[in-house]
Amino acid sequence: WATMADDVDAIGRLKRERNAVILAHNYMTPEIFHGVSDIVGDSLALAREATSVEADVIVLAGVHFMAETAKLLNPTRTVLLPDLRSGCSLAESITPADVRELRRLHPGVPVVTYVNTSAAVKAESDICCTSGNAVAVIESLGVPEVIMIPDQFLAANVARQTGVRVITHPGACEVHERFTPADIRQIRDDHPGVTVLAHPECPPAVLDEADYAGSTAQMVAFVAARQPERVALITECSMSDNVAQQFPDIDFVRPCNLCPHMKRNTLGTIRHALETMTHQVTVQPDVAERARLAVDRMLAVGN
Ligand code: 13P
Ligand code: SF4
Repeated sequence: WATMADDVDAIGRLKRERNAVILAHNYMTPEIFHGVSDIVGDSLALAREATSVEADVIVLAGVHFMAETAKLLNPTRTVLLPDLRSGCSLAESITPADVRELRRLHPGVPVVTYVNTSAAVKAESDICCTSGNAVAVIESLGVPEVIMIPDQFLAANVARQTGVRVITHPGACEVHERFTPADIRQIRDDHPGVTVLAHPECPPAVLDEADYAGSTAQMVAFVAARQPERVALITECSMSDNVAQQFPDIDFVRPCNLCPHMKRNTLGTIRHALETMTHQVTVQPDVAERARLAVDRMLAVGN
């Protein structure tokens, strides 16, 4: 059995040999997040950073749609996903045919697609968004109604914030849909004075009980700016573990639901990816071209 230190050393050596960088989502475990990553962030930050990577190889320590997005944005790099089974319940909830059907039913209504989708679904869309810029993207369109897919809860939450009507799709994140308003009330009872930050993939009734809603990066920014004494991050488990290391004086209550897809990334699978140069994520050129337009439009909104 390789020890954790062996894996960290080997990954460092392989990164130099392969001229590779590791882009890691905020839901990676601390040994990946703090131990071997070069760039960390939320979905928006990882997409932005992917555009300017100059290394030959990008290891995407995250899930499949993130690797596809990195490939779209920087097509001459080799993009590796440590485990091809790292999916996402949102991405799996919708197909390109579903998007075409929504367009047929609602002609002329723009399609705003969460980045948590396949490149093929993005290719059918007008513009993408992440949880960090969804409000800015919707407001940039200046229209009274949008088709916002595939996360029914993110769509409902953004509709409430913007006043724009949304037609959506019955997708949900299997991690965030499980939190309930009762969970938040229990946390407040058990941990007096706690500041509750919830991810907008949670149901609207959960956000009603929270003090703040934002993407994973926005949660970190909130904690850094306000330095509350006690915090509960209503999101995936590793998030609190990572942020707690950065803010040792803050008491982190750790309610959590685990994302099995994110957890397919381990030091072992990352090392294996670099040793074997697998699994390379590619996107068909015609799909990539159309999907990239939707992602580029999102990045141009600038939030
Ligand atoms: P963000 O990091 O963009 O908030 O996304 C959360 C998530 O669930 C990604 O899969
Ligand atoms: Fe998908 Fe939710 Fe896992 Fe993120 S946390 S990859 S949205 S299932």
